[in-house]
Amino acid sequence: MSFKLTEEQLMIQSMVRDFAREVIAPTAMERDRTTEFPADNLKRLAELGLLGMMVPPEYGGAGADTVGYVLALAEVAYACASTAVIMSVHNSIVCESILHYGTAEQKDRYLKPLAAGTLIGAFALTEPNAGSDPSRQTSKAIRDGDFYVLNGRKRFITTGRNAGLIIVTAKTNEEMYHRGISTFLVKRDNPGMKVGPLEDKMGLRASDTADLIFEDCRIPLEDRLGQEGDGFKIAMTGLDGGRIGIAAQSLGVAQAAFDAAVRYSQEREQFGQTISKFQGLRWMIADMATEIEAARLLMLSAAHLKDNGERYTSQASMAKLFASEMVNRVTAQALQIHGGYGFTKEYPVERYYRDARVFTIYEGTSEIQRVVISNHVFKDKRRL
Ligand code: CAA
Repeated sequence: MSFKLTEEQLMIQSMVRDFAREVIAPTAMERDRTTEFPADNLKRLAELGLLGMMVPPEYGGAGADTVGYVLALAEVAYACASTAVIMSVHNSIVCESILHYGTAEQKDRYLKPLAAGTLIGAFALTEPNAGSDPSRQTSKAIRDGDFYVLNGRKRFITTGRNAGLIIVTAKTNEEMYHRGISTFLVKRDNPGMKVGPLEDKMGLRASDTADLIFEDCRIPLEDRLGQEGDGFKIAMTGLDGGRIGIAAQSLGVAQAAFDAAVRYSQEREQFGQTISKFQGLRWMIADMATEIEAARLLMLSAAHLKDNGERYTSQASMAKLFASEMVNRVTAQALQIHGGYGFTKEYPVERYYRDARVFTIYEGTSEIQRVVISNHVFKDKRRL
């Protein structure tokens, strides 16, 4: 398989790189401190077509492929991981789920404002007692004439406070286990939905994470996404794409930490020379560079399979697993190279280290990725 990027993919990468480093990066450290939601960044991303990247032009999107999208996402993550996770959930799970499972009317109604950035999307699957195993969720949506009445509580919802449209899963048939789950499009102004307190997180501090509480939340029939019982499949398909996005976020943060470590090592002098001259440090840099390159190739491989309409579930999990564990090693080493300064807020490397920590957790822990990969190994021997 060749990874020669097309001219369009290279153009997207270079355009987003310039934009993210000039416009997004300068405020990232301050946002981390204040936890201010990056609404202005999202507005600029929308102007550049980065909020409906894989949405076809007929719905106001940029019509890019997944490879172009993950290259762009990695560049945004390089500058600000908080902005990147909002962009990721919005593009991969929200826009793509509506694109693949929405009716013509739902696509018309929601994809245009999502691509324009006037509506920001969130995805609500996780519950207080259903994280890795969402099939045991207890939120219920009971049919009542032309409506469903939703009751339940969702947890750790990215953009939970600021999203205008939330894809919510709930049981429509309690007897049916995962086949009894359905998916709904819930608007922010629905009086049956309340936002709980924000989580005070270790990293990604400018991305809001909140509980969503549904109390007799009435959802019109036309806002059910897919058929009754399709919810688990819709969530899993969305997460397949989303996990390539987490690999891209991991790659972006790892590259930022790596570049910072290389720069620092060429400036910092000890024992009469820059520390970049010491072999111990150069071997760390070589290992970091190799791991970043391996993650990049896994990410591109999964994105390429998706763009070619091939099965990519296992490859998305491999990319997510490897890249998210890689970025935790790379940011730890980058911080180590900075010595005592790396432990201070004077340098961005401590933020990279904190931001990276959640990548092995959200959109499926490393342990869940290993479940997905090993299931595919045993079920699908073609890929052994
Ligand atoms: N695509 C489509 N369908 C899929 C699928 C996929 N990738 N994976 C599974 N399914 C379907 C199967 O075909 C099967 O359907 P049928 O019964 O109709 O045949 C059904 O789902 C169940 O499949 P499994 O038996 O393999 O399911 P399981 O229960 O053994 O395992 C799991 C499923 C992989 C553990 C899954 O529950 C999982 O991924 N858990 C982690 C959840 C997760 O990632 N949560 C993240 C929260 S969202 C988030 O973090 C977003 C954010 O805000 C940043």
